[in-house]
Amino acid sequence: METAHLTAAQFADFSGVIAAELGIKMPASKQTMLQSRLHRRLRELGIGSFAEYHERFFNDDAHRAEELEHLLNLATTNKTDFFREPDHFDVLAQKVLPAWLRRPTGPVFRVWCAGCSTGEEAYTIAMTLLEQQAAHRFDFTIRATDVCTRVLDTAMKAVYREEQIRPVPSSLRSKYLLRSRDRDNDRVRIAPEVRAKVRFGHLNFLAPDFGLPETLDVIFFRNVMIYFDRETQQQVVSRMCRYLHPGGMLFIAHAETLQGLPLPLRTIGPSAYRHEPATLRP
Ligand SMILES: C[S@@+](CC[C@H](N)C(=O)[O-])C[C@H]1O[C@@H](n2cnc3c(N)ncnc32)[C@H](O)[C@@H]1O
Repeated sequence: METAHLTAAQFADFSGVIAAELGIKMPASKQTMLQSRLHRRLRELGIGSFAEYHERFFNDDAHRAEELEHLLNLATTNKTDFFREPDHFDVLAQKVLPAWLRRPTGPVFRVWCAGCSTGEEAYTIAMTLLEQQAAHRFDFTIRATDVCTRVLDTAMKAVYREEQIRPVPSSLRSKYLLRSRDRDNDRVRIAPEVRAKVRFGHLNFLAPDFGLPETLDVIFFRNVMIYFDRETQQQVVSRMCRYLHPGGMLFIAHAETLQGLPLPLRTIGPSAYRHEPATLRP
């Protein structure tokens, strides 16, 4: 196949769809990245030019939904890790959970891992909370969502390479990670008791209503809104707060900030906010 080239006009069309559907900004500097990611899709389909793919995407209703899913899957950045920015899990175990145990909002402690990528963050939360069950009697559930169907498939399989599980403390590895009997196989599976605590699902933060059936005690929303503009960040987090109990906690990533946005949240530590519906200052 001759080397296909994505023109500036085609890039503008695809990046416009990505911004409208996901809220993800795609500046011109991302043109080469999008071209190379889309190029793989062209190869899969046996299509020789971006002009032909552009036609299929924008003018062929029969393929539109399928190609939209592919485009959105390849537009997202899914980097994640077990125990990423680990201080948040200490705060969860040592401050947030004990506070909830003193004043529970219901029979179950509910966590939402929003933008869960391939599952490492959700399983980290599950292991952290399972550890706390040795000291406290409580039940918990974790809802984990992402817009990208490819990462959700990986998350549900719950199988990781040895190098990916390195950040998991060894005391937790022996309890919660299952090794293959085959010594040449470096794959590790998350134990059923950890998997049972996490429910994965598809959710787009740009949807006007997240449609979640429950109110949450904690939301992890880390390393996602960095790709959104300020207005989208404000809208998404504001909608998220509707699903957070008063007094509930929101964690964002250390590289992100909600400073200056009118939200019913109060800062209580690095990248950690408490939902205080009466306040509109972060
Ligand atoms: C960089 S990963 C962060 C994963 C994890 N939260 C962490 O901190 O390690 C960002 C995730 O956000 C998801 N995402 C991006 N835009 C989204 C949207 N509009 N709705 C839902 N998920 C989105 C991506 O698919 C990606 O898996």
